[in-house]
Amino acid sequence: MLEEMNIDRSEIENLLRRRFFYDQSFSIYGGVNGLYDYGPVGCAIKANILSLWRRHFILEDQMLEIDCSILTPEIVFKASGHIDRFTDFMLKDIQTGECFRADHLIEDHLEKLLEIKDISDEKKTEIKRILPQIGNMNATDLQQLIEQYNIKSPNTNNNLSEPIAFNLMFSTPIGPTGQMKGYLRPETAQGMFVNFKRLLEFNQGRLPFAAAQIGTSFRNEISPRSGLLRVREFAMAEIEYFVDPSDKTHSKFETVADLEIQLYSAINQINGESAQLIRLDDAVRLKLINNETLAYFLGRIYLFLIKIGIDKNRIRFRQHMSNEMSHYACDCWDAECKISYGWIECIGCADRSCYDLAQHIKFSDQRLVAERQLSIPKQIQVGEKRLNCKMIGQLFRKDASIVIEYLQNLSENEARILHEKLQQSDEKITIDNKEFIITKLIFTFETIQKTIQVEEFIPSVIEPTFGIGRIMYTMLEHNFKIRPQDNQRKYFTLPPLIAPYKCAVLPLSSNAAFNPFIKQISDLLTQIGISYRIDSSSNAIGRRYARCDEIAIPFAITIDFDTLSQPHTIVLRELDSLKQIRVKIDEIIFVLQNLSTEKVTWNEISRLYPTFIEQQTKRLENVE
Ligand code: ATP
Ligand code: GLY
Repeated sequence: MLEEMNIDRSEIENLLRRRFFYDQSFSIYGGVNGLYDYGPVGCAIKANILSLWRRHFILEDQMLEIDCSILTPEIVFKASGHIDRFTDFMLKDIQTGECFRADHLIEDHLEKLLEIKDISDEKKTEIKRILPQIGNMNATDLQQLIEQYNIKSPNTNNNLSEPIAFNLMFSTPIGPTGQMKGYLRPETAQGMFVNFKRLLEFNQGRLPFAAAQIGTSFRNEISPRSGLLRVREFAMAEIEYFVDPSDKTHSKFETVADLEIQLYSAINQINGESAQLIRLDDAVRLKLINNETLAYFLGRIYLFLIKIGIDKNRIRFRQHMSNEMSHYACDCWDAECKISYGWIECIGCADRSCYDLAQHIKFSDQRLVAERQLSIPKQIQVGEKRLNCKMIGQLFRKDASIVIEYLQNLSENEARILHEKLQQSDEKITIDNKEFIITKLIFTFETIQKTIQVEEFIPSVIEPTFGIGRIMYTMLEHNFKIRPQDNQRKYFTLPPLIAPYKCAVLPLSSNAAFNPFIKQISDLLTQIGISYRIDSSSNAIGRRYARCDEIAIPFAITIDFDTLSQPHTIVLRELDSLKQIRVKIDEIIFVLQNLSTEKVTWNEISRLYPTFIEQQTKRLENVE
């Protein structure tokens, strides 16, 4: 693996564009910032990441996957707080109107200042102290920095506006009248909260359980940049783990307890210290991580990142500082990966406490609660409305039902007030413009003592959120390699489970005698569901290998003249080691199935078959 310092990012990005991993959307019309299309390779890699994600999280923990609407009515985001608070601060060039994200612009300016040689050590220390705090600053603090450092619009040197809070949600009316206001969701989470009741029922009323959702989210980023890292439309995979707030232990915590992980706590950041390698078990014991469930997910996230090929030495978990935390969170750790752009947040893992469900209870008037069995029954005081329905029927006849409904719907407080008034005199109420006289003979409200065996509570939520584009780019950068001995050829060594195609099928030449074998092998691969690419173009075999390497195909089957004779064999080549073995056609499916599902490693399998020696390789690569 290349050291990150030696990476020339443009080489990777050129390759990704040239081989259509992904590219800017609508590029024939000049493109739109922050929108990307995935080509065949990127699309296959993304599907494989998501498939592994489903196995690693959903299957492992029996999560309930759902798929909710993207288009969301306004009330949902009023309840969730996104309408009021899902904002970034924006600065405008006051002459040209160009917009910038305030924290990023100030960070860039200060980072450039740090590079200036004649800047004093004192100033450098001051800037280093300020830099980590910029992302959490309010408008006044940001404005103060702009003035203090005389920051101007970067391309024109014009003055900048004051910071303006800009809501990142895309709004759109729903329906032709334009009267229902809606938004494209900026996270998939709300779909899981609003379906909580159904999910709890599906889980037979039991907690804890997790819901999961994979889907597209939209954020109208002020200045999208850095390729897939900051876009306006992106795939997210989210988990909402609903748990009793009085017990955030996790039954499988011991499976991750011994993992040693780089934790960059809020305290480390405040003290200017670096991240610390620490066992998850110790982190929970020391209360560095709030609870076992949160720590369990940090461990599972870490294992997932390693499984998809991210370098474990370039992963850290950074805790949010208290003023940085989203409006809903009480503890939050970001899985950050080091790439050529610096430390990038790929996954957020927040303890959202009961914020979202409590808000949706308030706005929807639905009981989004769970029940816990009490070990000792509890005496509680409850208010009870008593209605004399018989008398209401006799008095109000056909209007009886609306009077009953009215009285039943009174809140506890309203019922108590009405009861007190009725002790003094009868009360006149108006329903649908009709008046009714209520007496204490038809309505009373009493506080009684009740013994309960179960009690209701609003569950807490632990939420890991994965940005698939950032994860994918990071994985590609961490696995980018160059063969210096071979024309600086570039390739990616992705784990076979993630590789876009598991193997290439390459006839040595266009000799028609190879055709039946191409067909036989491709039929076998199709039947068994192993993805492959056939390259029977007239290019030299070495060139064709290089093309397969560029799109991260881990194994290549070459059909050569020895394939024609009995027993029919092919050459199987591995991308990274360049080692080749000879395998009977009859066995190739078994071998590839095990390799592509990572049941065996190349090292293990290659020991079982004769190596195809280098002279032959040369012959193979040069013969046309
Ligand atoms: P940032 O501070 O970088 O704007 P954020 O803190 O707003 O990110 P979250 O709201 O925590 O990000 O989003 C959860 C995850 O979604 C992130 O870890 C990231 O992987 C992904 N994500 C968020 N915004 C974007 C974006 N504009 N483009 C691509 N991925 C994104
Ligand atoms: N759902 C969490 C987030 O979007 O960051």
